[in-house]
Amino acid sequence: MCGIVGYVGEKQAQDVVIEGLRRLEYRGYDSAGVALVADGTLATEKRAGKLANLEKAIADHPLPPATTGIGHTRWATHGAPNDRNAHPHPGADRRVALVHNGIIENFAELRAELETGGHLLLSETDTEVAAHLLEVEVESGADLTQAMLAVVRRLEGAFTLVAVDAQDPSRVVAARRNSPLVVGIGEGENFLGSDVSAFIEHTREALELGQDQVVTITRAGVSVVGFDGTPAVGRRYHVDWDLSAAEKDGHDWFMRKEIYEQPRAVADSLLGRRTPEGHLHLDEMRLSDQELRDVDKIIIIACGTSFYAGMVAKYALEHWTRVPVEVELASEFRYRDPILDYSTLVVAISQSGETADTLQAIRHARTQRSKVLAICNTNGSTIPRESDAVIYTHAGPEIGVASTKGFLTQLVACYLLALYLAQVKGTRYGDEIDQVMAQLEEMPGHIEQVLAAGQTVYELAREHVDTRAVLFLGRHAGYPVALEGALKLKELAYIHAEGFAAGELKHGPIALVEDGLPVFCVVPPQGRDQLRDKMVSGIQEVRARGARTICLVEEGDDAITPYADVVIRLPKVPVLLQPLVAVVPLQLFACELATVMGHDVDQPRNLAKSVTVE
Ligand code: F6R
Repeated sequence: MCGIVGYVGEKQAQDVVIEGLRRLEYRGYDSAGVALVADGTLATEKRAGKLANLEKAIADHPLPPATTGIGHTRWATHGAPNDRNAHPHPGADRRVALVHNGIIENFAELRAELETGGHLLLSETDTEVAAHLLEVEVESGADLTQAMLAVVRRLEGAFTLVAVDAQDPSRVVAARRNSPLVVGIGEGENFLGSDVSAFIEHTREALELGQDQVVTITRAGVSVVGFDGTPAVGRRYHVDWDLSAAEKDGHDWFMRKEIYEQPRAVADSLLGRRTPEGHLHLDEMRLSDQELRDVDKIIIIACGTSFYAGMVAKYALEHWTRVPVEVELASEFRYRDPILDYSTLVVAISQSGETADTLQAIRHARTQRSKVLAICNTNGSTIPRESDAVIYTHAGPEIGVASTKGFLTQLVACYLLALYLAQVKGTRYGDEIDQVMAQLEEMPGHIEQVLAAGQTVYELAREHVDTRAVLFLGRHAGYPVALEGALKLKELAYIHAEGFAAGELKHGPIALVEDGLPVFCVVPPQGRDQLRDKMVSGIQEVRARGARTICLVEEGDDAITPYADVVIRLPKVPVLLQPLVAVVPLQLFACELATVMGHDVDQPRNLAKSVTVE
């Protein structure tokens, strides 16, 4: 949700900022802009649409050389995505320029106050208000840091602000409240970014900021203060992935690359989880065994794909730990007045660690004295920082807006959590846990096998280029897989797609079935005969009504063949782990179909990678 870059150093700021925006573009691509400090004046350029439009504008009208600058790539909240509303926004006298991620909730009253004072605001954004206020402060003699402190104290809402002052090229100043911002620490240069990919090609040393802090970067250093002006220190860390992880590696899309990275990502997420004695050990688990033994209810909160990972987790957690589990959409959670206490464990699943709905939900849970455990892929992000414990997934950076390896590694983390709880609570014997761990350790190989058969799925996708609706059916752990398959198709191919629990079909949705409608059916493994047999009946029912059934079936299950128009083979795995392989053909299908339809797979319309507004 908006990408932000700031730079001060010896290099050309324009190059550093544009390169940073390119890596952050997945966060929003409604417009992009830069502001440079050059010879006591601001040089700015901004354009609606993708970053390429801005680059073209700069190529046509080059900006002057400068070594201090800021940039922004936007996911629109206030005001249409046009040139006028694009960031950076200057103050009234074009002395300061400012970029913003988030929402300033009291912007209407601040705008009215400015307009009464004679300010002419040119855009519909909440951001421009902050730019004008900031300029008023610097023009009355404050330095940019002091000015920022004065302004943030007046703002309500969630925001990251980054600003430059034309009369002070030595610094870039930023503020953060409930919105992401990290500092990149270089030699003779320093960086600001919404996440580390903004500066990863220059430095892997980063500084994590706390809430309600203002940071000033100069060539010589970084200083941090709280909104009340008291000095603060951030947590310094080393980023354990490099530029190559943020490149496409010969693939046409980041998403496709990330799908093919899944065997590695799953293996990495399993790495180092067992002691030499064979016990499960989760090193970021900051909850004591006693605290975990006291847990008598688990509530999983998440959004979108992460929510579907939570749905799978419910089956594993309840089966292995016998603790009741609820799964709730983060955006709904706190509004239903959930029943929580100290013995409730709230598990927040978030790839980005910045999703505002999930963040607000965990804050609510903590006010009710519940312990919060985060499952997250982004080191240093807000959700794990505000949680009592965290299991990091090790997927590496996920750039494609549609989550793929993020989902698979979330599943792995959920299985690990369930097994760990089972170990601590004694609800499973050690050898049973060992057996599941061994099965999990075989999953990267199984996922490879599904990927190796990818061409068949691609051909299938190409046959569906004129399809306008698709259904997905699943049961048990295959039900969230069906939901995820449908979500991938909606967000990438803009096709009407729905996932259903196969048993629900006869209660209404079967009315949607008509001649030739493609219906993906995730068939449970044969080992679960009852489940599988019921699924087979569901497949027969839709086929009898003209559906074209595309069945994801484990190898060796030939009984399904008479009812399947297309069979996609899955490796033989336990039912609880089947989502790890079953979802992969659905990802490939959506990626390829969107490609042949001519859509931008990495940046689907209207979406952003990290949803930092509620
Ligand atoms: C879909 C997708 C989204 C995210 C959701 C939550 O492909 O990526 O549905 O899963 O926005 O994001 P995180 O996991 O970052 O909290």
